[in-house]
Amino acid sequence: MANDDPQTQAFDLVILGASGFTGKYVVREALKFLGTPNSPLKTLALAGRNSSKLAQSLAWAAAPSPPPPIPLISADVSDPSSLLALCRRTKLLLNCVGPFRVYGDPVVAACVEAGIDYLDISGEPEFMERMEAKYHEKAVKVGSLVVSACGFDSVPAEMGLMFNSRQWVSPAVPNRAEAYLSLESETRIVGNVGTYESAVLGVANAGQLQELRRSRPKRARPAIPGPPPPKGPLIEHQKSVGLWAIKLPSADAIVVRRTLATLTENPHGLQGVDETEEHIEKRKNFWSTVKPAHFGVKIGTKSLLGIMRLIVTGLFIGLFGQFAFGRSLLLKFPEIFSLGWFRKTGPTEEEVRSASFKMWFIGSGYSNGSLALQGGGKPDAEIITRISGPEIGYLTTPIILVQCALIVLGQRANLPKGGVYPPGIVFGPTDLQERLQENGISFEVISKKTLSR
Ligand SMILES: NC(=O)c1ccc[n+]([C@@H]2O[C@H](COP(=O)([O-])OP(=O)(O)OC[C@H]3O[C@@H](n4cnc5c(N)ncnc54)[C@H](OP(=O)(O)O)[C@@H]3O)[C@@H](O)[C@H]2O)c1
Repeated sequence: MANDDPQTQAFDLVILGASGFTGKYVVREALKFLGTPNSPLKTLALAGRNSSKLAQSLAWAAAPSPPPPIPLISADVSDPSSLLALCRRTKLLLNCVGPFRVYGDPVVAACVEAGIDYLDISGEPEFMERMEAKYHEKAVKVGSLVVSACGFDSVPAEMGLMFNSRQWVSPAVPNRAEAYLSLESETRIVGNVGTYESAVLGVANAGQLQELRRSRPKRARPAIPGPPPPKGPLIEHQKSVGLWAIKLPSADAIVVRRTLATLTENPHGLQGVDETEEHIEKRKNFWSTVKPAHFGVKIGTKSLLGIMRLIVTGLFIGLFGQFAFGRSLLLKFPEIFSLGWFRKTGPTEEEVRSASFKMWFIGSGYSNGSLALQGGGKPDAEIITRISGPEIGYLTTPIILVQCALIVLGQRANLPKGGVYPPGIVFGPTDLQERLQENGISFEVISKKTLSR
């Protein structure tokens, strides 16, 4: 008999931080799949430290329908016993409480302690790598799957690189792929202050990431045909996609490198906990078509002036973020120092609705792998692919997170028993790409051409 006691009932999924700006959009996305035919999501609860804010979030997410009877559970990240009690009542926890380097560790600790699965939307490399160093072994042992970066950071980069690399059919091989991100809007592009805070703290913690890496064993490096790409100019005019672009210091390239390192160490991907022969075959086939490449991400705008605005914002965060007084100024006046990119009250619903993104992947490589050793290794082939979708932070991120959650709930046997991993190596061979396409995020091949050497 089902347990309907609100104090002890168990759930398929709990969303922690459901009262946050992103959290409420994640709740809205999850409700679309709750109890629908064939959905593995039958029971859901929302968790956070303030039950009236959780109730407001649920009402907003369900509108114009009345809020469904979903339990609201009290849990505070500064109270480990509340987290452990929460984790003991669910199969999977989605964490929307950030900045993750401040609040994330006790949540991962509780999930691993309880042996449940965990996904988050962190875009903070130091947090992700610290969680891997601290909890991977125990997570493997107890069967707790911990995957960070299941949002715009960094699933489009992971899936987009794989999609581009799979277009290179033998004997052709890629050498590099550069992703160009373009954010578009009919009104204004605005982010909530939560993401800005995470970025500011990221600058402050950059040194800790270097220190952590120095203390860890070196990861395997993939064998990539041809030389590494040359360092380009600070500002690039990329004619093929009509954008002025600069390097984007996001987590994407770091997360992709972790996936490629794990793939190099496990050339057939990660074994599922209870896979069928058919799925083993499918997984091996999938990974045999993914060819590693050097990878970087740039952000682009149509005008040079737009790039200048990005550079000034980056300089403010990069310089002021390094010392305490500078950080307090950045955090006190987000709109001023981000030149309007971030707002304390977040974007309006209209601003969210009217925004979208395009991410081009310009892959360069060789029409035949043997050419990598000739002519200074200059690429002679180019394949351009593109991912596009709705607004990145509050529409695309919830779509990705919820689809990853549905895969964990519905296809657990095909996923690794446990461990701390980046999303690409876990979800690459699943139907995540098809699911994203069905939910408004498209993957396209734009062009394939030969380059003069
Ligand atoms: N991957 C991506 O592309 C992506 C996209 C969007 C956002 N994000 C990340 O998501 C995170 C959240 O961003 P946001 O804009 O939604 O921030 P936000 O609006 O400030 O939400 C933060 C949430 O954390 C909760 N929280 C804070 N302290 C807590 C505690 N001690 N115990 C329990 N809950 C606590 C807040 O609860 P209260 O309501 O009670 O304060 C709120 O629900 C950020 O790290 C951001 O970078 C990532």
